[in-house]
Amino acid sequence: MKLPIYLDNAATTPMDPKVLEEMLPYFLENFGNASSNSHVYGWTAAEAVDIARQQVAALIGAHPSEIVFTSGATESINLGIKGVFENYKEKGNHMITCVTEHRAVLDTCDWIENNGGKVTYLPVDPEGMIDLKALENAITSETVLISIMYANNETGTIQPVQKISEIARKHGVLFFSDATQAVGKIQIDVIEDGIDMLSLSGHKLYGPKGTGALYVRRKNPKVTLISQIHGGGHEKNMRSGTLNVPGIVGLGKACELCMLTLDSETTSIEIFRNSLERELLKIDGTKVNGSVKNRLPAISNISFAHVNGEDVLMKLCAEIAVSRGSACSSVTSKPSHVLMAMGLDENLALSSFRFSLGRFTTLSHIEVAIERIKTIVENHRGITR
Ligand SMILES: Cc1ncc(COP(=O)(O)O)c(C=O)c1O
Repeated sequence: MKLPIYLDNAATTPMDPKVLEEMLPYFLENFGNASSNSHVYGWTAAEAVDIARQQVAALIGAHPSEIVFTSGATESINLGIKGVFENYKEKGNHMITCVTEHRAVLDTCDWIENNGGKVTYLPVDPEGMIDLKALENAITSETVLISIMYANNETGTIQPVQKISEIARKHGVLFFSDATQAVGKIQIDVIEDGIDMLSLSGHKLYGPKGTGALYVRRKNPKVTLISQIHGGGHEKNMRSGTLNVPGIVGLGKACELCMLTLDSETTSIEIFRNSLERELLKIDGTKVNGSVKNRLPAISNISFAHVNGEDVLMKLCAEIAVSRGSACSSVTSKPSHVLMAMGLDENLALSSFRFSLGRFTTLSHIEVAIERIKTIVENHRGITR
Protein backbone atom coordinates (compact mmCIF):
# COMPACT_ATOMS: atom_id res chain seq x y z
CA MET A 1 0.00 0.00 0.00
CA LYS A 2 1.29 3.43 -0.94
CA LEU A 3 1.96 5.55 2.11
CA PRO A 4 0.88 8.00 3.34
CA ILE A 5 -2.75 7.01 2.84
CA TYR A 6 -4.57 10.01 1.42
CA LEU A 7 -7.46 11.07 3.65
CA ASP A 8 -7.38 14.76 2.77
CA ASN A 9 -9.75 14.89 -0.20
CA ALA A 10 -11.39 18.07 1.08
CA ALA A 11 -8.06 19.85 0.51
CA THR A 12 -7.79 18.54 -3.01
CA THR A 13 -8.69 15.40 -4.92
CA PRO A 14 -6.40 13.41 -7.17
CA MET A 15 -7.40 13.92 -10.78
CA ASP A 16 -9.41 11.09 -12.30
CA PRO A 17 -7.34 9.49 -15.10
CA LYS A 18 -10.41 9.74 -17.37
CA VAL A 19 -10.29 13.50 -16.93
CA LEU A 20 -6.64 13.67 -17.95
CA GLU A 21 -7.34 11.52 -21.00
CA GLU A 22 -10.05 13.94 -22.11
CA MET A 23 -7.78 16.96 -21.61
CA LEU A 24 -4.66 15.76 -23.40
CA PRO A 25 -5.69 16.46 -27.03
CA TYR A 26 -6.46 20.07 -26.08
CA PHE A 27 -2.83 20.68 -25.08
CA LEU A 28 -1.49 19.29 -28.35
CA GLU A 29 -3.38 18.90 -31.63
CA ASN A 30 -6.50 20.85 -30.55
CA PHE A 31 -4.61 23.84 -29.20
CA GLY A 32 -6.86 26.51 -30.70
CA ASN A 33 -8.11 29.66 -29.01
CA ALA A 34 -11.84 29.29 -28.30
CA SER A 35 -12.34 32.91 -29.40
CA SER A 36 -10.80 32.41 -32.85
CA ASN A 37 -13.94 32.27 -34.96
CA SER A 38 -12.36 32.28 -38.41
CA HIS A 39 -10.84 28.78 -38.57
CA VAL A 40 -11.25 25.19 -37.49
CA TYR A 41 -8.68 25.41 -34.66
CA GLY A 42 -10.86 27.96 -32.93
CA TRP A 43 -14.12 26.18 -33.75
CA THR A 44 -12.83 22.90 -32.28
CA ALA A 45 -11.81 24.63 -29.06
CA ALA A 46 -15.10 26.55 -28.84
CA GLU A 47 -17.07 23.35 -29.35
CA ALA A 48 -15.17 21.64 -26.52
CA VAL A 49 -15.88 24.61 -24.23
CA ASP A 50 -19.58 24.42 -25.13
CA ILE A 51 -19.72 20.76 -24.19
CA ALA A 52 -17.94 21.44 -20.90
CA ARG A 53 -20.37 24.27 -20.15
CA GLN A 54 -23.26 21.82 -20.59
CA GLN A 55 -21.56 19.24 -18.37
CA VAL A 56 -20.95 21.72 -15.55
CA ALA A 57 -24.46 23.15 -15.82
CA ALA A 58 -26.06 19.69 -15.79
CA LEU A 59 -24.39 18.75 -12.51
CA ILE A 60 -26.02 21.66 -10.66
CA GLY A 61 -29.31 21.92 -12.59
CA ALA A 62 -28.35 25.17 -14.32
CA HIS A 63 -28.59 26.37 -17.92
CA PRO A 64 -25.24 26.34 -19.78
CA SER A 65 -25.51 30.09 -20.38
CA GLU A 66 -25.41 30.59 -16.61
CA ILE A 67 -21.89 29.17 -16.23
CA VAL A 68 -18.89 31.52 -16.10
CA PHE A 69 -15.53 29.74 -16.22
CA THR A 70 -12.92 30.97 -13.75
CA SER A 71 -9.58 29.86 -12.31
CA GLY A 72 -11.18 28.24 -9.27
CA ALA A 73 -13.56 28.81 -6.41
CA THR A 74 -11.55 31.67 -4.91
CA GLU A 75 -11.94 33.67 -8.10
CA SER A 76 -15.62 32.71 -8.43
CA ILE A 77 -16.23 33.92 -4.88
CA ASN A 78 -14.43 37.22 -5.54
CA LEU A 79 -16.39 37.75 -8.74
CA GLY A 80 -19.73 36.86 -7.18
CA ILE A 81 -19.43 38.93 -4.03
CA LYS A 82 -17.53 41.96 -5.35
CA GLY A 83 -19.42 41.86 -8.63
CA VAL A 84 -22.79 42.12 -6.87
CA PHE A 85 -21.55 44.67 -4.34
CA GLU A 86 -20.36 46.97 -7.12
CA ASN A 87 -23.34 46.42 -9.38
CA TYR A 88 -26.11 46.87 -6.80
CA LYS A 89 -24.66 49.95 -5.05
CA GLU A 90 -27.78 51.97 -5.81
CA LYS A 91 -29.86 49.45 -3.90
CA GLY A 92 -27.64 49.13 -0.83
CA ASN A 93 -24.23 48.31 0.57
CA HIS A 94 -24.91 45.65 3.17
CA MET A 95 -24.31 41.92 3.01
CA ILE A 96 -24.67 39.01 5.41
CA THR A 97 -22.35 36.06 5.79
CA CYS A 98 -21.31 33.63 8.49
CA VAL A 99 -18.24 33.29 10.73
CA THR A 100 -17.41 29.76 9.55
CA GLU A 101 -17.03 30.61 5.86
CA HIS A 102 -13.83 29.77 3.98
CA ARG A 103 -11.13 32.47 4.00
CA ALA A 104 -11.90 33.16 0.34
CA VAL A 105 -15.29 34.51 1.44
CA LEU A 106 -14.13 36.11 4.69
CA ASP A 107 -11.23 37.95 3.05
CA THR A 108 -13.50 39.14 0.24
CA CYS A 109 -15.86 40.45 2.93
CA ASP A 110 -12.91 42.32 4.47
CA TRP A 111 -12.41 43.93 1.07
CA ILE A 112 -16.10 44.91 1.00
CA GLU A 113 -15.75 46.56 4.42
CA ASN A 114 -12.60 48.38 3.32
CA ASN A 115 -14.47 49.68 0.30
CA GLY A 116 -17.44 51.30 1.98
CA GLY A 117 -19.66 48.25 2.51
CA LYS A 118 -21.10 46.77 5.70
CA VAL A 119 -20.99 43.08 6.53
CA THR A 120 -22.92 41.18 9.21
CA TYR A 121 -21.24 37.96 10.36
CA LEU A 122 -23.74 35.44 11.71
CA PRO A 123 -22.57 33.18 14.53
CA VAL A 124 -23.13 29.42 14.48
CA ASP A 125 -24.40 26.96 17.07
CA PRO A 126 -22.20 24.13 18.46
CA GLU A 127 -23.05 22.03 15.38
CA GLY A 128 -21.92 24.81 13.06
CA MET A 129 -25.41 25.74 11.86
CA ILE A 130 -26.60 29.30 11.40
CA ASP A 131 -29.82 30.48 13.04
CA LEU A 132 -32.44 31.32 10.43
CA LYS A 133 -34.19 33.82 12.69
CA ALA A 134 -30.90 35.66 13.19
CA LEU A 135 -30.41 35.67 9.43
CA GLU A 136 -33.81 37.19 8.80
CA ASN A 137 -33.35 39.74 11.59
CA ALA A 138 -30.05 40.85 10.09
CA ILE A 139 -31.65 41.88 6.80
CA THR A 140 -32.09 45.64 6.39
CA SER A 141 -33.34 47.82 3.56
CA GLU A 142 -29.66 48.15 2.54
CA THR A 143 -29.00 44.39 2.24
CA VAL A 144 -28.10 43.24 -1.26
CA LEU A 145 -26.50 39.85 -0.67
CA ILE A 146 -26.54 36.82 1.62
CA SER A 147 -23.43 34.64 1.26
CA ILE A 148 -23.69 31.33 3.10
CA MET A 149 -21.67 28.27 2.16
CA TYR A 150 -23.44 25.08 1.12
CA ALA A 151 -21.23 22.80 3.21
CA ASN A 152 -18.32 23.57 5.48
CA ASN A 153 -14.87 22.49 4.36
CA GLU A 154 -13.66 21.55 7.85
CA THR A 155 -16.66 19.74 9.32
CA GLY A 156 -18.84 18.98 6.30
CA THR A 157 -21.84 20.61 8.01
CA ILE A 158 -24.54 21.42 5.44
CA GLN A 159 -26.47 24.65 5.93
CA PRO A 160 -30.27 24.78 5.36
CA VAL A 161 -29.81 26.23 1.88
CA GLN A 162 -33.45 26.04 0.76
CA LYS A 163 -34.65 27.83 3.89
CA ILE A 164 -31.96 30.48 3.45
CA SER A 165 -33.04 31.08 -0.13
CA GLU A 166 -36.70 31.40 0.93
CA ILE A 167 -35.71 34.16 3.34
CA ALA A 168 -33.57 35.85 0.71
CA ARG A 169 -36.43 35.71 -1.82
CA LYS A 170 -38.97 37.07 0.65
CA HIS A 171 -36.80 40.14 1.19
CA GLY A 172 -35.61 40.61 -2.40
CA VAL A 173 -31.99 39.86 -1.48
CA LEU A 174 -29.63 37.82 -3.68
CA PHE A 175 -28.26 34.55 -2.34
CA PHE A 176 -24.72 33.39 -3.13
CA SER A 177 -23.55 29.99 -1.92
CA ASP A 178 -19.96 28.79 -1.87
CA ALA A 179 -20.61 25.16 -2.80
CA THR A 180 -16.98 24.24 -3.41
CA GLN A 181 -17.11 21.23 -1.09
CA ALA A 182 -20.63 20.14 -1.94
CA VAL A 183 -20.75 20.08 -5.75
CA GLY A 184 -20.21 16.57 -7.05
CA LYS A 185 -20.53 15.13 -3.53
CA ILE A 186 -24.27 15.57 -2.94
CA GLN A 187 -27.21 16.36 -5.23
CA ILE A 188 -27.45 20.09 -5.89
CA ASP A 189 -30.08 21.81 -7.97
CA VAL A 190 -29.77 25.58 -8.12
CA ILE A 191 -33.44 25.95 -9.09
CA GLU A 192 -34.82 23.77 -6.30
CA ASP A 193 -32.34 25.29 -3.86
CA GLY A 194 -33.20 28.84 -4.93
CA ILE A 195 -29.54 29.82 -5.32
CA ASP A 196 -28.71 32.95 -7.35
CA MET A 197 -24.94 32.46 -7.56
CA LEU A 198 -22.78 29.46 -6.69
CA SER A 199 -19.04 28.77 -6.73
CA LEU A 200 -17.42 25.45 -7.59
CA SER A 201 -13.87 24.23 -8.11
CA GLY A 202 -12.34 21.64 -10.45
CA HIS A 203 -9.74 20.26 -8.09
CA LYS A 204 -12.28 19.36 -5.41
CA LEU A 205 -14.13 17.01 -7.76
CA TYR A 206 -11.32 15.03 -9.43
CA GLY A 207 -10.70 17.69 -12.07
CA PRO A 208 -7.67 19.90 -12.71
CA LYS A 209 -6.40 22.59 -10.37
CA GLY A 210 -6.78 26.18 -11.55
CA THR A 211 -10.27 25.58 -12.92
CA GLY A 212 -13.66 26.53 -11.56
CA ALA A 213 -16.93 28.18 -12.33
CA LEU A 214 -19.43 30.68 -11.06
CA TYR A 215 -23.10 29.99 -11.63
CA VAL A 216 -24.97 33.25 -12.28
CA ARG A 217 -28.77 33.03 -12.48
CA ARG A 218 -30.21 34.35 -15.76
CA LYS A 219 -33.89 34.77 -14.76
CA ASN A 220 -36.19 35.08 -11.75
CA PRO A 221 -34.18 37.16 -10.93
CA LYS A 222 -31.55 37.87 -13.56
CA VAL A 223 -28.30 38.53 -11.73
CA THR A 224 -25.84 40.99 -13.24
CA LEU A 225 -22.26 41.53 -12.12
CA ILE A 226 -19.44 43.98 -12.56
CA SER A 227 -16.50 41.98 -13.87
CA GLN A 228 -13.33 41.89 -11.81
CA ILE A 229 -10.90 40.96 -14.60
CA HIS A 230 -11.01 43.31 -17.55
CA GLY A 231 -9.95 42.59 -21.09
CA GLY A 232 -11.41 41.02 -24.21
CA GLY A 233 -14.94 40.61 -22.88
CA HIS A 234 -14.89 36.81 -22.62
CA GLU A 235 -17.56 34.95 -20.69
CA LYS A 236 -20.24 37.51 -21.58
CA ASN A 237 -18.08 40.32 -20.28
CA MET A 238 -18.02 38.81 -16.80
CA ARG A 239 -14.49 37.35 -16.91
CA SER A 240 -11.99 38.33 -19.54
CA GLY A 241 -8.98 36.31 -20.56
CA THR A 242 -8.31 33.58 -23.14
CA LEU A 243 -10.16 30.50 -22.01
CA ASN A 244 -8.12 27.67 -20.45
CA VAL A 245 -9.49 25.13 -22.91
CA PRO A 246 -7.74 21.96 -21.60
CA GLY A 247 -8.67 22.93 -18.03
CA ILE A 248 -12.27 23.65 -18.96
CA VAL A 249 -12.52 20.34 -20.83
CA GLY A 250 -11.18 18.62 -17.71
CA LEU A 251 -13.63 20.43 -15.44
CA GLY A 252 -16.50 19.44 -17.72
CA LYS A 253 -15.45 15.79 -17.82
CA ALA A 254 -14.98 15.76 -14.02
CA CYS A 255 -18.54 17.10 -13.60
CA GLU A 256 -19.90 14.51 -16.01
CA LEU A 257 -18.18 11.70 -14.08
CA CYS A 258 -19.54 13.04 -10.77
CA MET A 259 -23.01 13.09 -12.21
CA LEU A 260 -22.72 9.48 -13.37
CA THR A 261 -21.28 8.15 -10.12
CA LEU A 262 -22.71 10.48 -7.48
CA ASP A 263 -25.29 8.15 -5.92
CA SER A 264 -23.24 4.97 -5.78
CA GLU A 265 -20.04 6.77 -4.81
CA THR A 266 -21.73 8.70 -2.02
CA THR A 267 -23.13 5.53 -0.52
CA SER A 268 -19.82 3.68 -0.43
CA ILE A 269 -17.84 6.68 0.79
CA GLU A 270 -20.33 7.23 3.58
CA ILE A 271 -20.06 3.60 4.69
CA PHE A 272 -16.25 3.92 4.87
CA ARG A 273 -16.46 7.28 6.66
CA ASN A 274 -18.89 5.87 9.21
CA SER A 275 -16.75 2.86 9.97
CA LEU A 276 -13.65 5.05 10.38
CA GLU A 277 -15.59 7.34 12.68
CA ARG A 278 -17.17 4.52 14.68
CA GLU A 279 -13.77 2.99 15.40
CA LEU A 280 -12.03 6.27 16.23
CA LEU A 281 -14.82 7.24 18.60
CA LYS A 282 -13.95 4.15 20.66
CA ILE A 283 -10.81 6.02 21.76
CA ASP A 284 -11.43 7.83 25.06
CA GLY A 285 -11.96 11.58 24.86
CA THR A 286 -12.97 11.74 21.21
CA LYS A 287 -15.93 13.53 19.68
CA VAL A 288 -17.23 14.46 16.26
CA ASN A 289 -17.35 18.16 15.38
CA GLY A 290 -20.23 19.52 13.37
CA SER A 291 -23.68 18.27 12.60
CA VAL A 292 -23.85 14.50 12.37
CA LYS A 293 -27.25 14.69 10.71
CA ASN A 294 -26.64 17.38 8.09
CA ARG A 295 -23.20 16.54 6.83
CA LEU A 296 -21.28 15.71 3.68
CA PRO A 297 -20.78 11.94 3.38
CA ALA A 298 -17.00 12.10 3.01
CA ILE A 299 -15.90 14.27 5.94
CA SER A 300 -15.38 13.49 9.60
CA ASN A 301 -13.85 16.06 11.92
CA ILE A 302 -12.80 14.50 15.20
CA SER A 303 -11.35 16.01 18.38
CA PHE A 304 -8.87 13.97 20.38
CA ALA A 305 -8.69 15.30 23.93
CA HIS A 306 -5.50 15.13 26.01
CA VAL A 307 -3.00 14.98 23.15
CA ASN A 308 -0.82 17.60 21.58
CA GLY A 309 -2.30 18.03 18.12
CA GLU A 310 0.95 19.13 16.53
CA ASP A 311 2.87 16.09 17.83
CA VAL A 312 0.15 13.72 16.66
CA LEU A 313 0.07 15.35 13.23
CA MET A 314 3.87 15.10 12.93
CA LYS A 315 3.74 11.41 13.74
CA LEU A 316 0.68 10.77 11.61
CA CYS A 317 1.83 12.50 8.45
CA ALA A 318 4.27 9.78 7.41
CA GLU A 319 1.44 7.28 7.28
CA ILE A 320 -1.85 9.11 6.95
CA ALA A 321 -2.37 12.41 5.13
CA VAL A 322 -5.01 14.36 7.05
CA SER A 323 -5.29 17.97 8.10
CA ARG A 324 -6.20 20.25 10.91
CA GLY A 325 -8.56 22.90 9.65
CA SER A 326 -8.42 23.87 6.01
CA ALA A 327 -5.41 23.27 3.76
CA CYS A 328 -4.38 26.90 3.77
CA SER A 329 -4.12 27.09 7.56
CA SER A 330 -3.19 23.54 8.56
CA VAL A 331 0.53 24.20 8.74
CA THR A 332 0.09 27.02 11.21
CA SER A 333 -0.53 26.21 14.83
CA LYS A 334 -3.45 28.62 14.97
CA PRO A 335 -6.67 26.95 16.03
CA SER A 336 -9.37 26.65 13.38
CA HIS A 337 -11.72 29.65 13.24
CA VAL A 338 -14.52 27.22 12.37
CA LEU A 339 -14.09 25.03 15.44
CA MET A 340 -13.57 28.04 17.73
CA ALA A 341 -16.79 29.57 16.40
CA MET A 342 -18.55 26.31 17.31
CA GLY A 343 -17.40 26.75 20.90
CA LEU A 344 -14.37 24.44 21.12
CA ASP A 345 -11.56 25.59 23.38
CA GLU A 346 -8.21 26.35 21.80
CA ASN A 347 -6.51 23.12 22.91
CA LEU A 348 -9.27 20.90 21.63
CA ALA A 349 -9.46 22.82 18.37
CA LEU A 350 -5.72 22.23 17.94
CA SER A 351 -6.10 18.50 18.51
CA SER A 352 -8.98 18.09 16.05
CA PHE A 353 -8.40 16.48 12.68
CA ARG A 354 -10.35 16.45 9.46
CA PHE A 355 -10.52 13.08 7.73
CA SER A 356 -11.87 13.40 4.22
CA LEU A 357 -12.42 10.42 1.97
CA GLY A 358 -12.77 10.27 -1.77
CA ARG A 359 -13.38 8.27 -4.93
CA PHE A 360 -10.10 6.37 -4.59
CA THR A 361 -10.34 5.53 -0.87
CA THR A 362 -10.51 1.77 -0.29
CA LEU A 363 -11.55 -0.45 2.60
CA SER A 364 -7.90 -1.37 3.22
CA HIS A 365 -7.01 2.33 3.48
CA ILE A 366 -9.65 2.70 6.17
CA GLU A 367 -8.56 -0.41 8.06
CA VAL A 368 -4.92 0.64 8.14
CA ALA A 369 -5.84 4.23 9.02
CA ILE A 370 -7.96 3.10 11.98
CA GLU A 371 -5.17 0.96 13.36
CA ARG A 372 -2.44 3.62 12.91
CA ILE A 373 -4.47 6.52 14.25
CA LYS A 374 -5.54 4.53 17.32
CA THR A 375 -1.94 3.55 18.08
CA ILE A 376 -0.51 7.03 17.55
CA VAL A 377 -3.17 8.77 19.62
CA GLU A 378 -2.88 6.22 22.46
CA ASN A 379 0.92 6.65 22.45
CA HIS A 380 0.57 10.41 22.75
CA ARG A 381 -1.91 10.37 25.56
CA GLY A 382 -0.71 12.33 28.54
CA ILE A 383 2.33 13.79 26.76
CA THR A 384 0.69 17.21 26.47
CA ARG A 385 3.17 20.05 26.57
C1 LIG B 1 -15.35 25.90 0.97
C2 LIG B 1 -14.24 26.35 0.08
N1 LIG B 1 -14.36 27.50 -0.59
C3 LIG B 1 -13.40 27.94 -1.42
C4 LIG B 1 -12.23 27.24 -1.61
C5 LIG B 1 -11.18 27.76 -2.56
O1 LIG B 1 -11.16 26.96 -3.70
P1 LIG B 1 -10.04 27.08 -4.85
O2 LIG B 1 -8.87 26.30 -4.33
O3 LIG B 1 -10.64 26.45 -6.06
O4 LIG B 1 -9.74 28.51 -5.04
C6 LIG B 1 -12.05 26.04 -0.92
C7 LIG B 1 -10.79 25.29 -1.05
O5 LIG B 1 -10.16 24.94 -0.08
C8 LIG B 1 -13.08 25.57 -0.07
O6 LIG B 1 -12.97 24.42 0.60
